[in-house]
Amino acid sequence: MSRFDFDTLPDRRASGCNKWTRFDADVLPMWVADMDFAVAEPIRAAIAARLAHPVLGYGVPQAGLKARIAAWLAAQYGWQVPVEAIVPMPGVVPGFNLALRATCARGDGVVVQTPVYPPILKAPANWDLRRLDAPLTPRDEVDLDTLRGALAQAGQGGRGGAFLLCNPHNPTGRAFRREELEAMAQACLAAGVAIVSDEIHCDLLFDGRRHIPVASLSEEVAARTITLMSAGKTWNIAGLNACWAIVTDAALRARFQRAIAGVADHVNILGLVATEAALAEGEPWRQALLAYLQANRDWLLGAVEARLPGVRMHCPEATFLAWLDCRRSAAAADPQGFFLEHARVGLNPGPDFGPPGVGFVRLNFGCPRATLEDGIARMGRALGQA
Ligand SMILES: Cc1ncc(COP(=O)(O)O)c(C=O)c1O
Repeated sequence: MSRFDFDTLPDRRASGCNKWTRFDADVLPMWVADMDFAVAEPIRAAIAARLAHPVLGYGVPQAGLKARIAAWLAAQYGWQVPVEAIVPMPGVVPGFNLALRATCARGDGVVVQTPVYPPILKAPANWDLRRLDAPLTPRDEVDLDTLRGALAQAGQGGRGGAFLLCNPHNPTGRAFRREELEAMAQACLAAGVAIVSDEIHCDLLFDGRRHIPVASLSEEVAARTITLMSAGKTWNIAGLNACWAIVTDAALRARFQRAIAGVADHVNILGLVATEAALAEGEPWRQALLAYLQANRDWLLGAVEARLPGVRMHCPEATFLAWLDCRRSAAAADPQGFFLEHARVGLNPGPDFGPPGVGFVRLNFGCPRATLEDGIARMGRALGQA
């Protein structure tokens, strides 16, 4: 048995969190991407130790944190990054938005792979940039011709435009293979398009897979890439608003630092403490979490097939998110509304992830097994009665 407890459901309703307060009290929330697991003990201890000091002034990332991040990148992905390339920030969403500001000019295009995490979908419009969709195939694979076609239209504003990659991919759970990443990166280089890579789910890969940062493919790719990573998803500390960007090219880094100045160049002091503790002491908990999530995923695959008539899902290779295709089920017309009304389960509506999301919902399986079983039982009953 694991020495970590992932089976107890903490009561989060009075904790001020979004997940458990959005819907009525009888609704089981399985939507926003944080997990219903207690934060690992060493992280809570580090935060408590910091709070034992009575002053909470402005924090600044200490050299030890950047060294810790660089060591993590080297150990986990075999990626050697100089510490000066690491830029701590208050969040991946601000990070990729400001990376667009650094790499694009008004009128340029930003290529996104739909269906995709809604803030990625919305980011281009925040900067008066054109969103160019390059949908994944029905098997959630990269359609290279479509991608090349979109990239070719990206540079019309004059700066070259950007490819806003999400790897591992939310909501499909794809962890792109090396060949896919190489093909995507080559297409960007050929089109003169910058790469902004949201890799927030990079430490949640299943079946022994190893994450490949796109910038680690070659110096040439790294020179055009802004990568964003965080301990937020993996260690369930997203509310602490801390992440880091990696920009190895000095000129691109200077542009990025200008873009974040005055907007997102400060990090919450507790977020810095928690991030360092996660990387320094959180590995045993992460390994146990991965085993638990993978078992949840495997159970879910079987349960969807056996108990949710007409619903299908692909096997997520990473993340704690399942992308449920309800188009052949009784919930097809509006799956999110159907399951909310008839099952009292709160899911993310597929259309929020772009046009290919019509008829889909996203379900968060980062919860105790009993909670997951409850959610699927509710959904199964609703479909059975439809
Ligand atoms: C792909 C992706 N990027 C970014 C975020 C959020 O990042 P942050 O909280 O650091 O802004 C999420 C959260 O669900 C996510 O799934």
